Amino acid sequence: MINIGMVRRHDSGSSIGRLATAFMVAIGWLSLTINSASADSLRPVGLQVEYLVNPLGLDEAQPRLTWRVESNERGQLQTVYRILVSSSSATLAANQGDLWDSAKVLSDETLNVSYAGQPLVSRQQCYWKVCVWDKNGKARWSDPAMWTMGLLHAEDWRADYISFRDTTPVFSKKDSLFLPPAQQYRKEFAVVKKVRRATIYATALGIYELHLNGARVGDALFAPGWTDYHQRAYYQTYDVTSLVTSGRNAIGAWVADGWYSGYLGFGLLTGIGTEKIGRSTYGKTPALLAQLEIEYTDGSRETIGTDKTWKISADGPIREADFLMGETYDARQEMSGWVRAGFNDTQWQSAILAAENGSSLSTFYEWQNPTTPGEKLEIKGRPIDLGFKRPAKLEAFPGLPVRAIEEIKPVAITSPTNGVYIFNLGQNFAGVVRLKVKGPAGTKLQLRYGEMLYPDGRLMTENLRKARATDFYILRGDKDGETWTPRFTFHGFQFVEVTGYPGKPQPDAITGIVLHSDTPMTSNFECSDPIANRLFKNVVWTQRANFLDLPTDCPQRDERFGWTGDAQIYVQTATYNADVAAFYTKWLRELMESQRPSGTFPGYAPMPFQHGWDFGTAWCDAGIICPWTIWQAYGDTRILERCWPNMVAFLNWRKSTSTNFLGVAHGNEWGDWLAVGEKTPLEYVDTCYFAFSANLMSQMAAALGKAAEAAEYAALFANIKQSFGKKYLQPDGMLAVDTQTAYALALFMDLIPADVRDKTGQRLAAKLRGGETATNSGMTTGFLGTRPLLPVLSSVGENDLAVKHFQSRKFPSWGYEVSQGATTIWERWDSFTKDNGFQGNNGKQNAEMNSFAHYSFGAVCEWMMGNLAGIRRDGPGYKKILIYPQPPTPGSNQEGEPIHWVKAHYDSVAGRIESNWKRTATRFELSITIPANTSGTVYLLAKDVASIRVGQRALAKAEGVKFVRMQGDRAVLEVQSGKYNFSSEIGSKL
Ligand code: BGC
Repeated sequence: MINIGMVRRHDSGSSIGRLATAFMVAIGWLSLTINSASADSLRPVGLQVEYLVNPLGLDEAQPRLTWRVESNERGQLQTVYRILVSSSSATLAANQGDLWDSAKVLSDETLNVSYAGQPLVSRQQCYWKVCVWDKNGKARWSDPAMWTMGLLHAEDWRADYISFRDTTPVFSKKDSLFLPPAQQYRKEFAVVKKVRRATIYATALGIYELHLNGARVGDALFAPGWTDYHQRAYYQTYDVTSLVTSGRNAIGAWVADGWYSGYLGFGLLTGIGTEKIGRSTYGKTPALLAQLEIEYTDGSRETIGTDKTWKISADGPIREADFLMGETYDARQEMSGWVRAGFNDTQWQSAILAAENGSSLSTFYEWQNPTTPGEKLEIKGRPIDLGFKRPAKLEAFPGLPVRAIEEIKPVAITSPTNGVYIFNLGQNFAGVVRLKVKGPAGTKLQLRYGEMLYPDGRLMTENLRKARATDFYILRGDKDGETWTPRFTFHGFQFVEVTGYPGKPQPDAITGIVLHSDTPMTSNFECSDPIANRLFKNVVWTQRANFLDLPTDCPQRDERFGWTGDAQIYVQTATYNADVAAFYTKWLRELMESQRPSGTFPGYAPMPFQHGWDFGTAWCDAGIICPWTIWQAYGDTRILERCWPNMVAFLNWRKSTSTNFLGVAHGNEWGDWLAVGEKTPLEYVDTCYFAFSANLMSQMAAALGKAAEAAEYAALFANIKQSFGKKYLQPDGMLAVDTQTAYALALFMDLIPADVRDKTGQRLAAKLRGGETATNSGMTTGFLGTRPLLPVLSSVGENDLAVKHFQSRKFPSWGYEVSQGATTIWERWDSFTKDNGFQGNNGKQNAEMNSFAHYSFGAVCEWMMGNLAGIRRDGPGYKKILIYPQPPTPGSNQEGEPIHWVKAHYDSVAGRIESNWKRTATRFELSITIPANTSGTVYLLAKDVASIRVGQRALAKAEGVKFVRMQGDRAVLEVQSGKYNFSSEIGSKL
């Protein structure tokens, strides 16, 4: 049984963390004695390597080291740093950087300092700390941290990919499912000498879960993650020193289909992929590659790797194990002690090398772009061999593992029909359940999952399409009761329908277990409007439901793809809500690798099979927008270097498809997907995105010191802007394409010259206002136009309208959705309405195309944090911060009270930024926090300088603040790091 008892929240330690903690406690006292500085001086904290805390098994030759500095004192700065990296904790404690001593570096840099010491070798243990000097020259060491290196050379791998002998034919039926059991792999070995360190390196074609001497190894789920396994696979590294014992030992693993060979996306629904059923996408038979390395205290090393001496069984309890379809567990088939020494495995088969399964010929179907004019876009088949192929590259997993993060208790149990119980968990999320049950052996329970109920109380599953999303549990008949949690599947749900439960279930029969990539959450937002507060929670829940190894469109139905359009719309919001640096570092590899031969980026990455054209306008631009955003949020220029050749190829493709610097209508016609009532022509959208991508390229080139390219892309952007102006912009600021999305995109992407911006903005505002009726909010934007809608309104003097629309409860709007009962962001504004159920606002909606956890419209969070709370960066990495809160004018909304206070924070890569404000008709109060070693510019609402107070003091007497100028209704102030309470009077004209 999976040990979910250990579920933890983000802030508690993982097994890696626990090891590191023990190490820190051991030598922590030494660091303290070195630190002589006062409590006010600068403290280096939050040490990360490649965005990870104490990571194991890196394969970067020069890992990048990051820390934060904290101080209680205003205006504290880091003036100098010194990094020590040592080969042992004792050497580090003695302040000897035998691997690297950076010496004192005069620098305020805290982000991504590249290791520049002795070449690092496979398995190297690195212990490190940083000393920072503050502005007064006081020095302080950080606590120690660590990382280890993985296997850097192909020769380091002594193990082979192994499999069971697979004699099943390639499955090709469309009207039934093929759901093979998860396989158990095991091997025993002896340890006779004293162990210094034991490490497992492992991967699978499929998904795996490791065990050693009866204990689960690590807590990662769905390892090794999704890649295009033909090109690349990831491996994980685990420290198992504490699990290895002297004498006989047993290592084991579960291996299931996962993304590699299970049902994937909408392959079955749309008739594509292998044999048109969307399973066996990368191969037919899962395989395991693992190697346990034991280092003995005498310096010798032994490797126990996967090979033909391992034993495999398919007779265990996990009878079905499919990501989309669900898991079937027959507890009667549990093999107690199978990963303990002495277990009788004589009935188990011997493993074979994965390659020995030979070839398995089949046909792979996918859409193909026409190659000659006039030819149709159609699905074509091609022969493939589903036999084992060694991934071309094996890389250390660069992301954050999926973990069990939180548990949820049911809020209600109903029984729509006899013997059927529905547990309402009160929150839509992605994950699994823990089932608790007692009853006779052989009793079979069925668990179906859904996001919603029909009005008559039945479970709604139409929107899952071909995802069966059903688990089965067969009891072993334990008189003390039994508990179970599936291992190799997950679902998107709020409701669990249980059939076959013996007796009447108690509330603890079902517990929800929330799963997602363990990205630390980094923000909070509260304000005077409770609907907006629920909306913020809904955005965060939807992010958590979709950040599961990759950013997906939805967790419930048969898609779960890394849709690129959704990703680029949402990426800025994602960086506000969580530390997604490592998560995107991983997915950007998949995105770059999925670049099409033409140079464009696909509609989703990884791209297992093509659907329609291999690209779509605005979806393909994710290849530029996502790296740009990650650079901006985390100050990461290496990600830009790595993506650079692909990004250049993309811009070349964009240039080659354009005439006269204008966009074209080509590819998949998603455009302003799910727009309500207005259609924006694709060539218009394409022109905007062409310009946007060129502009961002120019900025990224400059950041990489590529001056010529920066100028070249700046010129390209200027040319597109000019062509855009000629074709679409009228002198009065109106656009030839008169849709809200057209205005929102043009303003957001800087296509409107400064002198007409306000007029163009007013036209947008007039359209939004003009469309408003007693029941309709007036908004017409879809996925693409909604993200920039409120930011541009707030930037063109229409902030009151932006806030009013944000607070609207009319269709379509965020408030409408929340008032219909949403606990997550829905794919459509009216995915469910109290009046029409799943038929939408107009009564005609397709209930099948209706996800209740789709993050795109949640991109409004970017405006909530950046405009309403006013927390923004002023350049990459939040080294400079802009505090620019935009409260609405009291009385500006006839429908309700405009938001009059906001309390928000964001844990940026530089530290916590806070903005809390309150506004009355005559006064404005603003409390802010600017992290140490950064500075800020505050745009404070004030009628004049004289009325500004900082705490109790007049502005002129306040420490750390400098008045720069009055700008309209605001005082512009430069502030040093620290906490400030501002108050001001505001003029009646506001
Ligand atoms: C997905 C979207 C995606 C779209 C392309 C849908 O099926 O769920 O979020 O971007 O297809 O238009």
